[in-house]
Amino acid sequence: MDYVVTDATTLAGDRIDIEIRSGRIDRIVPAGEGDPEAFDRDRHSDAGGRLVTPPLVEPHLHLDATLTAGDPRWNETGTLAEGIRVWAEHKESLDAADVKARATQAIEWMAANGITRVRTHADTTEETLTGVEALLELREEVSDVVDLQVVAFPQDGVFTRPGHEELLREAMSMGCDLVGGIPHNEHTREDGVSSVEVAMDLAERYGAPADLHIDETDDPGSRFTEVLASEALKRGLGGRTTASHTTAMHSYPNAYADKLLSLLRESGVSIVTNPPDNSVLQGRYDDYPRRRGHTRIDQLHDAGVTVAIGHDSVMDPWYHYGVGDQLDAAFVLLHYAHMSGRGDVGTLWRMLTESNAEVFGADDYGLAEGNEGSLVVYDSPDPFNALRTRAARTVVVREGRVVAETEPRETVVHRSGEKRRVDFHR
Ligand code: FE2
Repeated sequence: MDYVVTDATTLAGDRIDIEIRSGRIDRIVPAGEGDPEAFDRDRHSDAGGRLVTPPLVEPHLHLDATLTAGDPRWNETGTLAEGIRVWAEHKESLDAADVKARATQAIEWMAANGITRVRTHADTTEETLTGVEALLELREEVSDVVDLQVVAFPQDGVFTRPGHEELLREAMSMGCDLVGGIPHNEHTREDGVSSVEVAMDLAERYGAPADLHIDETDDPGSRFTEVLASEALKRGLGGRTTASHTTAMHSYPNAYADKLLSLLRESGVSIVTNPPDNSVLQGRYDDYPRRRGHTRIDQLHDAGVTVAIGHDSVMDPWYHYGVGDQLDAAFVLLHYAHMSGRGDVGTLWRMLTESNAEVFGADDYGLAEGNEGSLVVYDSPDPFNALRTRAARTVVVREGRVVAETEPRETVVHRSGEKRRVDFHR
C-alpha cells in the first residue's frame, strides 16, 4: 500500500516528507521536497509540522485479563496479592468468546494510540487453557491491525500444583511464541530456580524467546534475575531473553545490584519495566517512607542494558485504570523514576520506540528508507509536548495502510461572550 506524510517533525527535530510505496518506506526527504501529487488524495496526510514517530510497541500486557476490572469484584486493597485472588476467581469460568471480545477491544484502543505490536502473556495455570487458545486464535484474527505475540505464562507457578508444568509445556506445543515464568511466586527458592531452567529448556526446544515475570516483589531476598541472566549467558540466549518487572532490584543492597547490573550487561538480557502497575503494586508492605518499587532504570541504562516500557494492565484486577496508551506508561515512569529532566525526554522516547522494538524483536523498524512503511503522527509539535499532553495520534499507518485516525481535540473557553480556543500548548 502507498501513503505519503508531508511536513512532519521527527524525534530528532528534522522536518521531512515520508513516501511509502508497497508498504515500505521508499523515500525520506526534507519537507517540501517530496512528491505528494504522485499519491491519491486520500493517501496523503499533511502533518503541518507535527511530530512523527515509528509505531509504538507494547512489550508487556495481559490480554486474557484485560477489561475484567470489577468482574467478579473489584480489587479493594489494590494489592498484587488481591489482584491474583480476583483473577483466580474470574478464571474459574473463563469464556473464550469473552476473552476474544475483551482483548479485541483493548487491541483497538491500542491501535488508536499508535501501537501496532503487542506482546501478551496468557495464563497457563487455568486448567482448560481457554485463554491461551483464545489468544492464539486472536493472533490471526487481529493481524490486520497488530502483530500479536503470546507468552505461555504460568501465573500461579510451575511447581505450586501438580499439572502446572505439563500445562506450560502444552501451551508451548499449542503454538505460543514465547515461554514465560514467575519464579518468585514458586514455593521455594529451589523451585524458583527450577522454573527458570524449565523455561529456558523450553525456549531452546522450541527456538522461542523467553520473557519471565521475575522478582516482582519488594523482597530484596528475591534474586531470580541473576538466575535467568546466568542461564541465558550459559546457553547463549541473552539476546532473546527478557526479564519483566525486576522490581526487587529497587530494594537490593547497592553492592549486590552492582554485581547484577554487570551480569545483565554481559548476558544481553533485556528488562521490561511496567510503570502503571508497579507504581501501585509495590511498596505495599511499607508504612512510611514508602518505596517507589521500580527497577533501577538509570543504573540499567548506565550499564548498557536495554530497558523497555510496558503497560502490563488495562482495566484488570491489578490495575483498574488505563486506556492502552504507552504514553501514559511513560508519563508515570518519568515521575516515579525521576526522569523529569529535559534530557530525559529523548531517553523516554528511545525507550518507547527503539528499546520496545528491540525487545519485541521487530525487524525493519524505524523511520528509514527500506524499512516497514509504518508511522504515527501526533497532534503535537515535538516529543516533549507529545508526552506532556499525551497528544492524540491523528493518523496511524501500518505498512502503508491507515489503521487508526483521531480528530485533534478542540476546546473553547467562554469569556465575556467571546470564545477563546485552548490547545494546551503555550
Ligand atoms: Fe505482567
